[in-house]
Amino acid sequence: MTGHGGNIYAASRTTGIPEDRILDFSASINPLGVPETVSEVIRKNIRNLPNYPEPFAEQLSAHLGKHLLIDPQSIICGNGSTELIYLVVRALTPRKVLIPAPTFTEYERACKTRRETSLFQYDLSPENSFDIHLDTFIAAMHGCDMTFLCNPNNPTGRLLTREQVIKIAQAAQQSQCYLILDEAFIDFVPEHSMVSEVEKYSHLIVLRSLTKFYALSGLRIGYGVFPAALVERLRSHKEPWTINTLAQRGGMAAIDNKAYEKETFEVITQGKLFLEKGLDELKIQYVPSYANYYLLRLANAREVVVSLRNKGILVRDCSNFPGLDGSYIRVAVKSPEHNALLLKELSGLCRG
Ligand SMILES: Cc1ncc(COP(=O)(O)O)c(C=O)c1O
Repeated sequence: MTGHGGNIYAASRTTGIPEDRILDFSASINPLGVPETVSEVIRKNIRNLPNYPEPFAEQLSAHLGKHLLIDPQSIICGNGSTELIYLVVRALTPRKVLIPAPTFTEYERACKTRRETSLFQYDLSPENSFDIHLDTFIAAMHGCDMTFLCNPNNPTGRLLTREQVIKIAQAAQQSQCYLILDEAFIDFVPEHSMVSEVEKYSHLIVLRSLTKFYALSGLRIGYGVFPAALVERLRSHKEPWTINTLAQRGGMAAIDNKAYEKETFEVITQGKLFLEKGLDELKIQYVPSYANYYLLRLANAREVVVSLRNKGILVRDCSNFPGLDGSYIRVAVKSPEHNALLLKELSGLCRG
């Protein structure tokens, strides 16, 4: 069991509500939906499906390199960034791994595929909005040969600034500890991305995803940026053809779409202001977020999850995140109409 948000299929089976009638706040996906330019490229490329895709998505890497102003040779594309989380563990064979809690649960799952790997948990605390304390985190890294950091963090939405991450990357290099920096949500605060810093550090790896910002969860496109000395080692552990033709071509179209990017910032900024005001009015506790979702604390979280699900509204039950008790849910920022509907439903259900 992976226990993530976004499982409209299971929700449909449980409730009998058709998949396309389910309103999904449990996966934090851009409410604008698939960019039209991506749909167009997909339609055009269906005729190419008899051919294999490029084995290692070379053109997509070249395109990403140009877009990010980095060496395309440092990029490895994956079937979503999830593939790359498992790849780094398989290729770099860490012995001791530090993982904050709560955070994205696939880091722990990936490490557990190796019997030789031990896990160390760095506890984040609700008392200080689940923020990482730089000095104690750096101290905890000593003796570990890998650490995962999610920035902004899922499920809290908290951000480490670029300057703070640079300090951690420097410390990681000194302790010879690989820092796997997951920037799946950094497109919402792009000025804090570390992709351009990777070439300066021997132990920094940045993972990115096109899933969230470009609403392409089902297409599966992610990539990693790796130090030059590690690229061949990682490539030698990677299967060919894991990024299909439609994903490779669609990914290129997505990152070229500046109009979509601009509209996304507008809709997410407005949506966040609206949701924060509404949550404040309802006196619902939430963690201030730098991403397109909020972690809410509710006295009756489980009841809220179930009641909403029975109405075809999915929110992320956060009780399976190590480091969170059963009183948290996570909700995505969606369209104005859907955000209003969520607040209306919560107003009838919540006990803060
Ligand atoms: C923080 C984080 N990293 C990575 C992923 C995986 O994304 P992808 O769809 O690129 O595999 C997710 C998906 O929920 C996520 O929340």
